[in-house]
Amino acid sequence: MPQKIEKIVLSYSGGLDTSIILKWLQQTYQCEVVTFTADLGQSDELEQARQKAETLGVKDIRIVDVREEFVRDFVFPMFRANALYEGQYLLGSSIARPLIAKHLVGIAREVGADAIAHGATGKGNDQVRFELATNALDPSLRIIAPWREWSIQSRTELIEYARMHQIPVPKDKRGEAPFSIDANLLHTSTEGKVLENPAEIAPAYIYQRTVDPVDAPNEPEIVVVGFEKGDAISLNGEAMTPAALLTALNKLGGKHGIGRVDLVENRFVGIKSRGVYETPGGTILLAAHRGIESITLDRAAAHLKDEIMPRYAALIYNGFWYSPEREMLQALIDHSQTYVSGEVTVKLYKGSANVIARVSAHSLYSLDLVTFEEGSGTYDHHDAEGFIKLNGLRLKNWAARNGKSQSLLGSELMSTF
Ligand code: ARG
Repeated sequence: MPQKIEKIVLSYSGGLDTSIILKWLQQTYQCEVVTFTADLGQSDELEQARQKAETLGVKDIRIVDVREEFVRDFVFPMFRANALYEGQYLLGSSIARPLIAKHLVGIAREVGADAIAHGATGKGNDQVRFELATNALDPSLRIIAPWREWSIQSRTELIEYARMHQIPVPKDKRGEAPFSIDANLLHTSTEGKVLENPAEIAPAYIYQRTVDPVDAPNEPEIVVVGFEKGDAISLNGEAMTPAALLTALNKLGGKHGIGRVDLVENRFVGIKSRGVYETPGGTILLAAHRGIESITLDRAAAHLKDEIMPRYAALIYNGFWYSPEREMLQALIDHSQTYVSGEVTVKLYKGSANVIARVSAHSLYSLDLVTFEEGSGTYDHHDAEGFIKLNGLRLKNWAARNGKSQSLLGSELMSTF
């Protein structure tokens, strides 16, 4: 018999897993379960989640539209860093977890619950993210992770349990058990089933919000993204709220087949997993943000950001959004964005989002300095001579010591490495 719990707040998507969890919690803990469903722009039928929770006997059903909060307070701060995990993953699921945890904790306090529960499995990153965030926000709250407690060991057994308890099992477009999908305003992630074999090519029907680049329009589309202090604020000159802007970029990106990534990633728990991500708007946003930074950030500032970026991305991936080290890095990143304002023109075409023009009132770009024509004389070509001489000094010294100065070409040089 588990420890006595008075009231639980469950992170409830309305999907198969969390519906079963809801039932299981009620039976196992014999206490009230309050459900929290975040409207993250996943475009699922949220009303369906309400109905399901009602059918399962929930009295206190919370469905909260957190789209603006999600983009403004989580996605945008992360994009200021150009965060990418392992060079490819835009962290669409990772960044939603701390926001969900924040609301679970808030509701738990409001209704006097002593525990929160989530539907993340015992093999994934999401359990870590939910729980570390909860630890940081309210150390006194208990956390129930049914996937680590119950005797159900697999998706097959889960579906069996659902059938036994009259919980409807959703089907995918082909009438089969669905993939493991996580969707929000930033991305759709698809895992499991045939994708578990990384040697198998992902079937075309798994993609949900992007067209195949091959089928994208044959005409490119040009868009202008406006930035202020590192955050996108307008699209084609029209001011927009963070969520509205990301929604608009998603539509454009989806239409042009932008932001599909098929990868194998290293989970925090030590497992490699294969996933397919669709991040249409985020992919455009990253390109545009790098575009505006390219003219507004000093070289050393930009390079420092790039050095800390993988570290920052790993913190978010591993569930340390609420941590002193993430806050410290965020302060550095936010400070760097003081002059990251202006407009970037991006060309969307068959799966690609390429920056083709950028402009800023705070630009550091100096035509006078860079021009192949005659400049005003600020840059003296002769300075470059001494600059190269001194930088080359130690290389000459090194080469002389190695005795290779006479044969700089070919295999002999290569063999010294
Ligand atoms: N592997 C991704 C991550 O750890 C996505 C996890 C959730 N996605 C899912 N299909 N269940 O961020």
